[in-house]
This record gives sequence, C-alpha cells and structure tokens, in this order.
Amino acid sequence: PEVRRYKFNVVMKNSTKLCSSKQVVTVNGRFPGPNIYAREGDTMLIKVVNHVTYNMSIHWHGIRQFRTGWADGPAYITQCPIQPGDSYVYNFTISEQRGTLLWHAHILWLRATIHGAIIILPKHGLPYPFPMPHKEEVLLLGEWWKSDVEAVIDEAMASGNAPNVSDAHTINGHPGPKSNCLGQGGYKLVVMPAKTYLLRIINAALNTELFFKIAGHNLTVVEVDATYVKPFATDTILLAPGQTTNALLTTNQFTARYQITASPFNSSPVTIDNSTTTATLIYAGALASATTILADRPAQNATPIADTFTQSLRGLNSAAYPSLVPLQIDHSLLFTIALGFADCPSCDNSLRLRVVADINNVTFVMPRIALLNAHFFGIGGVFTDDFPARPAAPYDYTGAKQPENMRTMSGTRLYRLAFNSTVQVVLQGTSMIFPENHPIHLHGSNFFAVGKGLGNFDPDLDPKRFNLVDPVERNTIAVPSGGWVAIRFRADNPGVWFLHCHLEVHTSWGLKMAFVVDNGKGPNESLLPPPNDLPKC
Ligand code: C2O
Repeated sequence: PEVRRYKFNVVMKNSTKLCSSKQVVTVNGRFPGPNIYAREGDTMLIKVVNHVTYNMSIHWHGIRQFRTGWADGPAYITQCPIQPGDSYVYNFTISEQRGTLLWHAHILWLRATIHGAIIILPKHGLPYPFPMPHKEEVLLLGEWWKSDVEAVIDEAMASGNAPNVSDAHTINGHPGPKSNCLGQGGYKLVVMPAKTYLLRIINAALNTELFFKIAGHNLTVVEVDATYVKPFATDTILLAPGQTTNALLTTNQFTARYQITASPFNSSPVTIDNSTTTATLIYAGALASATTILADRPAQNATPIADTFTQSLRGLNSAAYPSLVPLQIDHSLLFTIALGFADCPSCDNSLRLRVVADINNVTFVMPRIALLNAHFFGIGGVFTDDFPARPAAPYDYTGAKQPENMRTMSGTRLYRLAFNSTVQVVLQGTSMIFPENHPIHLHGSNFFAVGKGLGNFDPDLDPKRFNLVDPVERNTIAVPSGGWVAIRFRADNPGVWFLHCHLEVHTSWGLKMAFVVDNGKGPNESLLPPPNDLPKC
C-alpha cells in the first residue's frame, strides 16, 4: 500500500455558465473539483486549506473511515468546520473497498460546486470481476444555479418556503448545448469504435435524482456505490444524489455522434424541474457535420423505469466477494421519512409556518460542537441518545390520509448501538406534504438493501420476502414515495455516524439523525484519538 498526498486549496473562482457569471467556491479553482485516485489499502493524506470566507468541511462519501471518524467530514457531526485561513489534513486508510465514490463539501450548500470523484482501484494484481475495459471515463452529474447558491437556501430558510430549483444540470461541469453561451457546448466524450469503456457515473446534484442514457447503446452495470453487482444490461441508469454507478459501454454501433442525457426523475405528479442536460458521445472519425442521434429520455415521473432499474440490482455475492448481509438482527427499527411543519412567527407566508423535515417526527437540530468530540471526550449536554426506535403514534403512511398534526418535535437525538450489533432499519416513506423519493445516506458503513415495497410496511408479511442472499450493498438508497425500503448493517465501526436525506434541501430542513456506535473490547475495535490539527469550534 502507498501513501497518497493531495492538496485542496479552497478558493473563489469566477465562472460563466448559462450566459451569466458569478463567483463560486472551488477546490483548486476547478468545477467539478479534482478526481482523487487510490488503490484499496492506500492511506490518504488530503490537506484542505480554506482560503475563502465560508467555513469548510469535506466528506469522503462512501469511504468507510474505519476507526477514523475524525476524517469523515460532516460539519458539527464528526468535526468542527475548517475556519477561513485554517487547514486540516484528512488522514484515512481505504480498506475493503474499491470502485467509484465522490467527495463533497459537507457544510451549508457548498457541495454544489465543491465535489469530485474518488476512484479506488483494486489491489495490485487483482482484476475486476468483469472484462478489462480499454479505457475508463468519469462522468460527474451536477446542478447549477445562476444565482449564488448560499443565497438560494438562506432565502428559503428565512421565508419558510421551498428554495428555487436549479437552472441547469451539468455533465462534467457543462450544461447541455441547448443552453450554449459564449461558445460553450456540452461535454464531449470521444471514443474509439469496437472497444469497451468503463464509465464511472456519479450523481453530485444537490436535489435531483437523474436518469442517465446514451442514445443507441445499452450499458452493462457492474458496480454501484463502490460495491460489485451482478452485471446486467440496461438502456437507462438511475442515480440519486450521492449514488455512483460503474457501467461498461461497448462502442459497437456505427461511427456517428450519440446524445447522452441526464434528466430528472421525480415521482411527484407536479413537474418540479425539467432541465435535462445533454452531452455527446462521438465515435472517432464521425463527421463534425453529422447529425447527433437523439436519446429518448424517460418522462420525469417514469416510476416503472426507475423500478425496473432498482429491481435489477443484486450484489455480486461471488466466492471472492461474498455477501455479508446480517442474518440475525439485534436492533429492529422503523424510521418514518417525512416533511412537516414548524411554527414560524417571522415567516413570510400566511400560515406562519415553515416547512421542516423529520425522521420519526424528530427534526434534527445541529449541535454547536461536533458530536464525535462530545462522544469521545464524554462532554454532556450536546446530544441525547434517546432517538425513537419507531414512531410514537403510527399512522397511515401512504399519504391517502394526512395526519391532522404535522408539527414535528426538534432535538439532537442519537440512537446508540453496541459494537458489532446488527441493525435493520425499515425506512418508511410517508408522502407527507409532497410525494417525493428520499435518497437516504448512511455514513460509516455500507448497508444491504434487503427489501422494498409500496404502501405501509407489514412487519408480518414483508420480511418473508426479504432478499438475504444477494441484496445490493450500497451507502445511499432512494426511499420510494408512498413506500418503504429495508436496510441492514453491522455496527462494527465505532464513532458517530450521520444518516440523512441526500437531497440538500431536506437535510437543511432537518431530515437527519445519527447513530453512536460504542467501542468494542478488542484491540482494534476502538475509535482512534483525534488528530492534533482537528479544527476547533
Ligand atoms: Cu454525501 Cu452526509 O453525505
């Protein structure tokens, strides 16, 4: 294993897109930010220097951070932010993981422009469990606002209303050619004919699930969230924010130009955002004048296409990569994922209410010092460990009948787990206020998606249909609107681990909680002490 060093200078940079210019927060002046490369087993030393006026914090999304929660990154959960003028070295080792992940800012809405790919190659001499590609390409999907992104969320928080949707989606930083300004075209991917490419596709958008397609080509999915899956062919890939998908593209069509699309998926009947972005796959030798073969993008509410995709995902579960899904469960939890209301006398709307979000009716309140510090040093008064295991008053979660009281409670409440205990969480979507999917992300461990269904979870019948053989293993999963997913994981990573909706707007509204995993008794079962340069609050 090697030690790999990276330096991330956080700097402002002027950027012009969609015919308008603004200053954006970037890493090393780039949008998207730099890709980082590693091999399984390597140690990463990534020095982040904050040259801007915002507080900063970076999360290595999907990296397990075994015993090194201090390097996980979510502000006020595992560290205090890096103040302007300060720096912090994220120091962690990548073990038992290989594939594509992403890094992103984990404070305010700064991840809009502070993100990039993490590419973890298998150990030397270990082949991929699929044919060796001719070449690999990263495709980062993002989202762009013409106005200042922090102003968008600040305004929404002050008014109590929903924030403005973005003006465009991007592929490797480029909005599609339709929004072409100042000669900026969409992203172009040039390929050789009759070859196989590995596409590392990442959804780094803030608030949108995206369908991904390439006209005229099927894609073979081989990996999601840096875990291998049973390969399957599809013409459409679905990624929620925070999810990654590796897929093989074989350039077996005639020499031409083919449209690539990233278009929103939203199960809501209301059209929230229709800004499809496009890029172009160009076979080397195709004439510049040749017309581009168009992709037929799915309708925004194409739930059947989304379901077909997610149902095709199965863990590889081979001899070399067996499924480690827990079969016995110590903690069986039911979490309702909901939007709700809080009183807001100062809010600029007639009801004097603000939209909030919650899990089991608890709207999470961010602490003033990092939870991991409070846990490690035994500082009282920062959090309680009484997060409810299930809703206090169950109701019909399908949204057929909205409960009368949609007011939530607030608190910094965590759920405590003994080291190595096994956990099942049924994430029950509620359709409260808006029927929307919620991509739920867990820090510190992958989980296995053992079941999924529509309507209210039935604790007697539904577990009989769980897949405990080859469930897909991932770190982010979309809880369907008006339905549920069941996930399982083993709490074998001591520390404090955030669980939240990866739609940034819902995180801002409080759709988050955290697990605290105690140390084990063995020699390698404790959280390591904090590094000396850990930022202070
Ligand atoms: Cu990618 Cu806590 O997030």
